[in-house]
Amino acid sequence: MKRIELTRRDLIKYAGISSIVVSSWGISSCAEDEDPNFTFEHGVASGDPTESSVILWTRVSRTNFRDIHDDEQLSGTYDANVSWRVATDESFANIVNSGSTKVGSETDFTLKVDAQNLQSNTKYFYQFTVGPNSSVIGKTKTLPSGTVDQVKLAVVSCSNYASGYFNVYKEIAQMGDLDAIIHLGDYIYEYADSGYGSLRKLEPTHELINLADYRMRHALHKKDSNSQQMHASLPMIAVWDDHEVANDTWISGAENHDATTEGNFAARKASAIKAYFEWMPIRPVTPGVDGRIYRQFKFGDLVNLLMLDTRQAGRDQQLSYASFLTADGSFDAEKFQTELASTTRTMLGAEQKTWLKESLSSSIETWQVLGSQVLMMKNNLPSAVLLPDPLAPLVEFAEYGQIATAFQTYSFFLGNGVNNDKDSMLAAGLTEEQWQLATNPEKTKYLDTSAYPFIPYNLDAWDGYYYEREEIYATSKALNKNLIVLSGDTHNAWAGRLVDQSNEVVGIQYATASVSAPGFDSTLNYDLQTVRATEPGVVQIIDDLDYINMREKGVMLVTFTPEAAQAEWKFISTVESETYTIETSVGKVLTSKIGEKTIS
Ligand SMILES: [Fe+2]
Repeated sequence: MKRIELTRRDLIKYAGISSIVVSSWGISSCAEDEDPNFTFEHGVASGDPTESSVILWTRVSRTNFRDIHDDEQLSGTYDANVSWRVATDESFANIVNSGSTKVGSETDFTLKVDAQNLQSNTKYFYQFTVGPNSSVIGKTKTLPSGTVDQVKLAVVSCSNYASGYFNVYKEIAQMGDLDAIIHLGDYIYEYADSGYGSLRKLEPTHELINLADYRMRHALHKKDSNSQQMHASLPMIAVWDDHEVANDTWISGAENHDATTEGNFAARKASAIKAYFEWMPIRPVTPGVDGRIYRQFKFGDLVNLLMLDTRQAGRDQQLSYASFLTADGSFDAEKFQTELASTTRTMLGAEQKTWLKESLSSSIETWQVLGSQVLMMKNNLPSAVLLPDPLAPLVEFAEYGQIATAFQTYSFFLGNGVNNDKDSMLAAGLTEEQWQLATNPEKTKYLDTSAYPFIPYNLDAWDGYYYEREEIYATSKALNKNLIVLSGDTHNAWAGRLVDQSNEVVGIQYATASVSAPGFDSTLNYDLQTVRATEPGVVQIIDDLDYINMREKGVMLVTFTPEAAQAEWKFISTVESETYTIETSVGKVLTSKIGEKTIS
């Protein structure tokens, strides 16, 4: 690798240009600046762009030193002196900022620089150097300012290393016209090897509990070549979801945390958060164990992006259907509704909610965009397909869809004068199978909404925090905002309307499929044909839903202009091989025009 040297004249020339080194480091007693064993094994990344600054990230490895990520064992063992530079051209003829700093075990040898005094809406190149070795050259971009015609974002979530290759990341790296990547969380998963997919081997092989574990898992992701290509190509704006700590996290616990065998949850969470701040190109808003990551990005006069923390900052524990089943096995809907609609129930916590409301009311940008890990739109399904357990329901979802379609068709014919006998119905166009379903009371009973009411499918999403969602809807409605909510978490692609309790549409929901984590097709064990047959039924059954893809992995490209907010779902053929194609046959583009609050 080519060695980059800054001359004394360079240093004097750039000394006046400010920058902030975000990383902390200790007293260097054994800096080995010229050590040829220092290398960059984890690529480079940039993130949290503003109009005039961007976070630059890298990590230094020492090839002759075991990479154990444990700062107690490594503390004081060595420091590395890293220099960095930013230019407007790839050959670094026009350097606009540079500096150097030491990096050590305190940050797991990760380094973050907040490069400042940059021009808005401008592409930059950056590179790190340690001893004789230099990193790859990264590309990044600052946010636009003033009057902005277009903002284009690549929205991703749920990059589960064990279950697939990051082909989606590779695809993003090749896209030339993006402003930034939005990662809505589940950047890593905490599970042990084969705990959630077994295509790729994990490091560490056990479930993540302590700081060294979380660091090692982050390091594994940053060694992935597709991830390195993506990070080197664009700035990322990331928030964590649950799996950066543990499955279904709330403020003080998680579904996948057992205090008796896994110790204190607060200690685990603090380790996970420390590793996240070290390994992600995120600007620390409030550094420390209680890291605040909800934050605002303004894209000129066009987009006000509010990235939420629906997980770690303030979330009350999720409700569970099991706790509302009575002794005779029936569901206590009244008690459930009372708890669900509790005015004190929170997902954001008081501080974040106040911040969100104030940010919405003070914003003058055309589009108000929430980056919410979990789905905000209502997602109500017949209780018969959810109880007693969504994986072993009274009736399978696909069958429910068939019964509903059969009964609707049958009722339509009946209402249009077709005789209620089999021959007449079949002659009118009902199939034999539909006749059997539509006339079988043991099947059609599931369509009775008084016996089987529609209830939220996912109590971990905004559906489980009903009152607070209404508060946000009411704020946006009162301010007459153009609200778009971007979500991940479900591993499937969705689009729908945000409908408040008075049945008014207050905004639009766009949600991205996963990068690699398995979707409904594998959760429900549906083959391709069943998935494709089920999707229209889901759209029909869920009131506010306009679109779903239950199978493919991909990226959601969201383009904002003064006239419209458009989502384009780009899907790939597979994550099980590094060879893939774009699945153009299932690609989808939907648009919401300004002020209309509809999708077409
Ligand atoms: Fe996920």
